[in-house]
Amino acid sequence: MSKPESSKKKIQAIRGMNDLLPGQSALWQYFEGTVQALMQRYGYAEIRTPIVEQTALFARSIGEVTDIVEKEMYTFEDRNGDSLTLRPEGTASCVRAAMEHGLLHNQTQRLWYQGPMFRHERPQKGRYRQFHQVGLEAFGLDGPDIDAEVILLSARLWKELGLLDHVTLELNSLGSNEARAAYRDKLVAYFEQHRDQLDEDSLRRLSSNPLRILDSKNPDMAPMLADAPKLMDHLDAASREHFEALTALLEAAGIDYVINPRLVRGLDYYCRTVFEWTTTALGSQGTVCAGGRYDGLVEQLGGKPTPAVGFAMGIERLILLLDTLELVPQAALGELDLYVLPMDDGATAQAMLLAEQVRSELPELRLQLHCGGGSFKSRIKKADKSGARMALLLGEDELAEGRVTLKFLREERDQLSLAQDALAKTLANLASDVRA
Ligand code: HAM
Repeated sequence: MSKPESSKKKIQAIRGMNDLLPGQSALWQYFEGTVQALMQRYGYAEIRTPIVEQTALFARSIGEVTDIVEKEMYTFEDRNGDSLTLRPEGTASCVRAAMEHGLLHNQTQRLWYQGPMFRHERPQKGRYRQFHQVGLEAFGLDGPDIDAEVILLSARLWKELGLLDHVTLELNSLGSNEARAAYRDKLVAYFEQHRDQLDEDSLRRLSSNPLRILDSKNPDMAPMLADAPKLMDHLDAASREHFEALTALLEAAGIDYVINPRLVRGLDYYCRTVFEWTTTALGSQGTVCAGGRYDGLVEQLGGKPTPAVGFAMGIERLILLLDTLELVPQAALGELDLYVLPMDDGATAQAMLLAEQVRSELPELRLQLHCGGGSFKSRIKKADKSGARMALLLGEDELAEGRVTLKFLREERDQLSLAQDALAKTLANLASDVRA
């Protein structure tokens, strides 16, 4: 009996949630490896938290009237009737875990994390419903020095990836909560005067989150927004001093920046320093890294007052950027160096032995052994299809003579006959030749 049509339909991935396929995973590993090494070099320790948390954690930290909490969270009731949410970002979880395990007691803490985050946004290039962030959070430090250092770390990453000339650092200060509240009143008064120019979204935000109106991308509102009062002109003295010290440190370190008075960020926990690294190479989703200071959040979540600063970068966007700018190094393509090819089944055992020897002696070499038999012609075809730069051929003659034949698959070059016992040394030289 045939099954009903509906049960035969192929099940597909959820919209906005992507599979990472073999052709791309080497590039991700290259990116993640570079970041991980950098975090260690700056003294950050990795923290891993669950991808699901109580909904209240995000509502209380990110803010009830933000886009994320109002519209974008994957929230569901579990079997106990508890409201849970797939994490839309990493900061709240990091703070929760650090508090829960006493990591913030009279000590500083420099933590980093990476992993999937979930937001029900409209998918487009650079914007997904499951996306990946790598982020860091520094706790217990309130000076501009740590703000500058986290920015320097990100700048070093751009340098190492070859991206520094393709990204811009935008900076702003949101001041203290009190200064921001006073500024908010001034801003609302200004917007009230220009109410006829506000779009629907902005009218909605006017009473709930007027600062976010500054972030609007609506070109019709641009001239009105350009003339709006600037937060930077209404900072409290301590925040102004903090900001000036930060910019001085960045200048001393040779980091270029632009002050963007309309940079307000989409999460409510920020105060003082906020920043974004942006690029024009990706279209509208051009922010590749974003963060700032959030001195009030730990206390807001029930801990002792603890200053904090951090950022997160979107891995998909950075991978897209590396791809778009053709900045992917050879080593990140994940290509094989060598395909070891027994020419017939009689050579399988010796080919396997040789492959294992080479793997022991040259652990950095990427080597695949031909498995699955087949005619000589089909074996050669597979060697070619493997993408390897070289093939090591082992047949009856080679076995008898204690030698192997090395064929170059991607370049015009005569094949070589090598002694099996000197193989590793010759290969090491050849592999570095070919890679260079
Ligand atoms: P965020 O600005 O919401 O900040 O996200 C940081 C970065 O994650 C963005 O700049 C972007 O690169 C990436 N991103 C965000 N949403 C998506 C999406 N739907 N698809 C692809 N990439 C996306 C935060 O999450 C804060 N927790 C950052 C932070 C850490 N602040 C202090 N510490």
